[in-house]
Amino acid sequence: MSFTITGTGSYLPGKVVTNDDLTAFLDTSDEWISTRTGIRARHVAAQETVTDMAVAAARAALEDSGSTPEQVDLILCATLAGEYITPSLGCMVQKELGAHCPAYDLNAACSGFLYALDAAAGYFARGRVKKVLVICAEAMTRLMDWTDRSTCVLFGDGAAAAVLEPGEDLLSIHLSAAGNNDALCIPHVNGNCPYSGYDRGPASLMMNGQEVYKFAVSAMSKGVEKVAEEAGISLEDIALVVPHQANMRILEAARKKLGMPAEKIASNIDQCGNTSAASLPILLDQLSRQGRLKKGDLLALTAFGGGLTTGACILRWAKEKK
Ligand code: ACO
Repeated sequence: MSFTITGTGSYLPGKVVTNDDLTAFLDTSDEWISTRTGIRARHVAAQETVTDMAVAAARAALEDSGSTPEQVDLILCATLAGEYITPSLGCMVQKELGAHCPAYDLNAACSGFLYALDAAAGYFARGRVKKVLVICAEAMTRLMDWTDRSTCVLFGDGAAAAVLEPGEDLLSIHLSAAGNNDALCIPHVNGNCPYSGYDRGPASLMMNGQEVYKFAVSAMSKGVEKVAEEAGISLEDIALVVPHQANMRILEAARKKLGMPAEKIASNIDQCGNTSAASLPILLDQLSRQGRLKKGDLLALTAFGGGLTTGACILRWAKEKK
């Protein structure tokens, strides 16, 4: 027993910031950002909290699946940072929805959706749940140093959710972690403990872009090959690869390694940038609502992120085409 996805939803903040907008305060250009990354604009949570975005995505997913909050047996949130260290984002969403189930967060950075799917599969395998709400929500723009042009141009904000119910549509899944805080890290804020002699440095994202780039291309292509083999399917059987959106050039290099045609790699990076854990499920929801997924399609989901973590799976799409 694994699960089937019966509903998806997403939320993108109303404020859109284009590459040209960034040139007002950064030494950058639309030409540099779009040719190096494929990003043209990103949504910024100017008013919304992470909880607001998570709740909006969750409501949309519940409606899409015809479910009510009272029916949900577990809320699992993947995020780098909710509003609070505690309560968790999961508990905040549970409160806002009026649900009555256990709720918690996990942090696997941009691979969070895959980690959450694997965790949820365990609850279904044990027969503990009938309906799980997986939510990925991130306000990456609040974790950036906005004077660092090499990182702040890459990220955006948003949330997405999926309702999972008993089924057999997760055909294979593989996760990995290679502990590393040199390629990418976001330190916690320094407290004001008078006894502490430890300085974590600035509480904003630091990244060695080229190191992450090399890791990502190999992780994405190897991840898809591995889960396809474990599911007993060939790469030709995959209807669509739905990847984490970090950089169009990473997607293109991974696609070439896999020898797949461009139309089989889904992307929305031009309008969303990198929204960490939320990026893959936002794209999945958009594809579903655009009618680009049909019942029975075999999808390859693949992601990599800080940690360094990776995740990939083969998922059979079971919803009727919209
Ligand atoms: N505008 C203009 N110039 C810039 C900008 C910018 N926004 N950013 C950097 N530059 C300059 C640099 O200063 C450098 O100038 P120099 O040659 O005079 O020193 C030049 O551009 C080249 O910089 P590189 O860092 O070598 O550029 P690169 O081609 O490697 O592209 C990028 C950088 C886009 C970050 C790329 O390495 C990348 O996408 N890496 C992967 C990042 C990623 O996937 N992150 C997500 C990780 S998962 C997670 O987020 C949790």
